[in-house]
Amino acid sequence: MSHAKLFTPFRVGSLEFANRIVIAPMCQYSAEDGCMTDWHTIHLGQLALSGAALLTIEATAVEADGRITYGDVGLYSDANEKAMAVVLKSVRRWSDMPIAIQLAHAGRKASCEVPWKGGAQLPVNDPHGWQTVAPSNVPFQAGENPPQALDRDALARIRNSFVASAKRAERLGLDGVQLHGAHGYLLHQFLSPLANQRDDEYGGSLENRMRFPLEVFDAVRAAFPANKPVTMRVSGTDWAEGGWTIEETVTFAKALEARGCSGIHVSSGGMTPAQKIPVGPSYQVPLARAVKDAVKIPVIAVGLITDFEQAEAIIGTGDADMIALARGILYDPRWPWHAAAHFGAQVKAPDQYLRSQPAQLRDLFSVGKKG
Ligand SMILES: Cc1cc2nc3c(=O)[nH]c(=O)nc-3n(C[C@H](O)[C@H](O)[C@H](O)COP(=O)(O)O)c2cc1C
Repeated sequence: MSHAKLFTPFRVGSLEFANRIVIAPMCQYSAEDGCMTDWHTIHLGQLALSGAALLTIEATAVEADGRITYGDVGLYSDANEKAMAVVLKSVRRWSDMPIAIQLAHAGRKASCEVPWKGGAQLPVNDPHGWQTVAPSNVPFQAGENPPQALDRDALARIRNSFVASAKRAERLGLDGVQLHGAHGYLLHQFLSPLANQRDDEYGGSLENRMRFPLEVFDAVRAAFPANKPVTMRVSGTDWAEGGWTIEETVTFAKALEARGCSGIHVSSGGMTPAQKIPVGPSYQVPLARAVKDAVKIPVIAVGLITDFEQAEAIIGTGDADMIALARGILYDPRWPWHAAAHFGAQVKAPDQYLRSQPAQLRDLFSVGKKG
């Protein structure tokens, strides 16, 4: 029997997790008009065989103009929903890993080239570009086309788009919704004084800056089945002077908890090119710990968590309830298998792969279940 905390079960609402390993949302920039393609079947399919507790679908735009790039996945049309259903059917045939989706609007960071072609903002008149929107008409960086400031009607429309996408997620049988309130995208733009310079009830004080993200949370929470989790991903800090702080994050997390939020996923940064991030192993874990100390709902830590003992220490010391992996699980999609082997724990493997169990690890794979 393994004593590793990383492999203890966990429950959020109706969702049972076999261990504490979450696959973080990762944009693939491989959709067509917001529709998932067979790349997503390959990508999500292999991650669904990894033995992690939860697979999170990449940032999925609630409106076409909310995509970071023209290759982003969306859930704003019937065609988008149909394409996602095709991918999910394949993945679910071979894996019973719970699947959540991150719903997002990129705001002023929309209309960009895909990263492997440089990632720069595309002008409005580019065939792949469009006019961006934001809380205020302040661009992400100097020289970019400024976003249009959202008026009240536009805010109501975007809130409704989040709801419509959450309803599509429900129809697709997805197990949870994560709202993207991090990395300098629209909801984070409302939170941070660096992007939000409004003088109405959506800007200025912390209470006002939190208003739109909380309205979106309330509307999505009300629209998605009550027994399924709705969580928020936050940037714990902007890592920049005059920006969003960890103290404000804690206040935001408490407000979310009071409204029935199921968990807080603590990332950081993405608001300004002026950010100074002290990058290193576990660099965002202290931010997760600050939130964890202030709320009772589950907290997920992420960011350069790559080693098994490092992950175990985060769960074991109570810094967070779960850890999320992004680059590490792309590099080694069997990370959870290898972690289970390291700790003498068990992990699910698909029937087709059971014969790969190393001879000296006779109890590594739990058998008789899908993926
Ligand atoms: C290819 C790639 C795509 C990403 N896309 C998203 C995304 O869609 N939504 C999001 O919140 N974060 C996204 N991120 C950030 C990751 O979820 C994660 O927070 C970050 O990479 C730090 O974790 P890591 O050190 O384990 O990679 C992405 C990261 C990578 C590497």
